[in-house]
Amino acid sequence: MKDLAYLNKFLYKYRWRLIPGIFFVIVSNLFAVLPAQVIRLAFDLVKENISLYRLFDGFSRQQLVYQTFGYSLFFFGAVVLLLSIIRGLFLFFMRQTIILMSRHIEYDLKNEIYGHYQQLSMAFFRRNNTGDLMNRVTEDVSRVRMYLGPAIMYTINTSVLFILVIYAMFSVNVRLAVFCLLPMPILVFAIYYVNGIINYRSERIQQQLSNLSSFVQETFSGIRVIKSYVRESDSRSKFRHESDEYRHNSMALVKVQALFFPLMMLLVGISTIITIYVGGTEVINGSLTAGNIAEFIVYLNQLTFPVISLGWITSLIQRASASQKRINEFLHTKPEIVSPAVNAHTIQGYIEFRNVSFVYPDTGIKALDNVSFNLKPGELLAIIGKTGSGKSTIANLLMRMYDTTSGEIYIDNQPIQSLNLHNYRKQIGFVPQEVFLFSDTIANNIAFSSEKIDREAIETAARNAAVYDNIAAFDNGFDTLIGERGITLSGGQKQRVSIARALAANPQILIFDDCLSAVDTRTEEEILHNLGRVMSGKSAILIAHRISTIKNADKILVLDEGKVVEHGKHEDLIELGGRYFELYEKQLLEEQENLS
Ligand SMILES: Nc1ncnc2c1ncn2[C@@H]1O[C@H](COP(=O)(O)OP(=O)(O)OP(=O)(O)O)[C@@H](O)[C@H]1O
Ligand SMILES: [Mg+2]
Repeated sequence: MKDLAYLNKFLYKYRWRLIPGIFFVIVSNLFAVLPAQVIRLAFDLVKENISLYRLFDGFSRQQLVYQTFGYSLFFFGAVVLLLSIIRGLFLFFMRQTIILMSRHIEYDLKNEIYGHYQQLSMAFFRRNNTGDLMNRVTEDVSRVRMYLGPAIMYTINTSVLFILVIYAMFSVNVRLAVFCLLPMPILVFAIYYVNGIINYRSERIQQQLSNLSSFVQETFSGIRVIKSYVRESDSRSKFRHESDEYRHNSMALVKVQALFFPLMMLLVGISTIITIYVGGTEVINGSLTAGNIAEFIVYLNQLTFPVISLGWITSLIQRASASQKRINEFLHTKPEIVSPAVNAHTIQGYIEFRNVSFVYPDTGIKALDNVSFNLKPGELLAIIGKTGSGKSTIANLLMRMYDTTSGEIYIDNQPIQSLNLHNYRKQIGFVPQEVFLFSDTIANNIAFSSEKIDREAIETAARNAAVYDNIAAFDNGFDTLIGERGITLSGGQKQRVSIARALAANPQILIFDDCLSAVDTRTEEEILHNLGRVMSGKSAILIAHRISTIKNADKILVLDEGKVVEHGKHEDLIELGGRYFELYEKQLLEEQENLS
């Protein structure tokens, strides 16, 4: 329950929906209890009138008695109907206030969680899988809403009705009330117990459903691999297996549910029989009227639904509380990377790494070991090295996706942590190693960094990234949709659109993480040539595997297992005859082999 306390601030915010809601619940219940009393009056009237009718046997007045009797019965019927209509009206108001409130809170909570997600750092997203993150904003929030709406509403409803009905029962006849309520605790326990089983089995179904859908999702995204390795029948039988598990779980649930309803009806039936039996003896003794028995049976029926809903409400609250606990866990996660409250300014692009070491927090892998280098605006720094040597890690640290484990990064001679993060990142054009494009038009993908980028700037960026001609060749040009509903770009086209996106932002610092791997050497040269032009006076970092890509760089770092093993210009490194030279010879040899 203490987890749900988090929601109190929302209940307070919407108090002018909640308070009238509670009022409507109480009023609607008053109108629910009154009909029983009218029915008792009507019943007693019937008995009286029958004796009266017999009294006037043989008199002409008898017909009149009959008529009056008919009218008054009609009157009672009309009153019961009217009371029910009024009750219905208040039930409508009750839902309009409380359920509506729960929908408003659901909306607020979703926005709060999503907003918080956006603030959290990369490390958080690596720790938690996508399915889990999605579940908290969808599944968990809707469970919490069930608490805020139905659970609160029915709790108030049930308690008010209980008090009113039990009070009414006891004020009529204590003995009958006690006998009539006797089976109720058994009913409550039975329902509570069965509900536990139902919940457990529904959870299992839910779990299996999520297994099933992630399996299906993965087979669809990996359909190319499945088809090329001819594993269709295997994935079909796996699906059948998962499906079968789901069916098995569902059957188990249906069995319990099928038992549940008759059990309840049995217990309610027993209560009714007791009421009639005990009530009948009281009527014979003369302490009750027949109308009272009718009244009691109506009460009993009115209690049935609240008692049943008691178990349901308990499980709603339990589930909501578990969900809110999960949500709170996320909401209380503090973003590891926070921006200091300083003013935004244009950065010049001096970059310095001073004895930087970095260990990935989740895996404990030491990716960088005492790395130092610097870079002035207008310079191009290239980083080369074996896979896993820490090149992308340098890019991550430079984007401040993580903070260094030891050592410092200086931008314009200021520690990177002292910069306004938002403003700083906005001035970096980053082309990640794994290209990601949104399912949108090409133009929108290139202009992703800002709404202010106009068509002309988009086209210039595309020209500089040497992808303009490719895009122009599509029927819809820059308005071509890519991704799920659109066309599929080739690997090299994707890389170049991604480069255009970085260039369109007109950045002060450019970081290319191995993003020329899928373009041919001629196109690569063209891009690098354009880059020299647009990035003049700005700093650029180029991560690559091919020496041909980087030989003109102002500085080259050779990384190995997180350490800078060599650094200098191309010619110097060749002369040095070390690791870089080895790589150069090997790549030269490969090239010659390819040519011959
Ligand atoms: N997000 C991460 N969490 C944990 N460990 C990571 C993460 N990213 C990389 N690593 C590890 O850090 C080391 C350096 O990885 P990095 O991605 O920097 O290599 P790289 O030089 O870019 O390699 P490649 O040329 O293959 O892109 C590797 O051992 C890798 O397994
Ligand atoms: Mg990399």
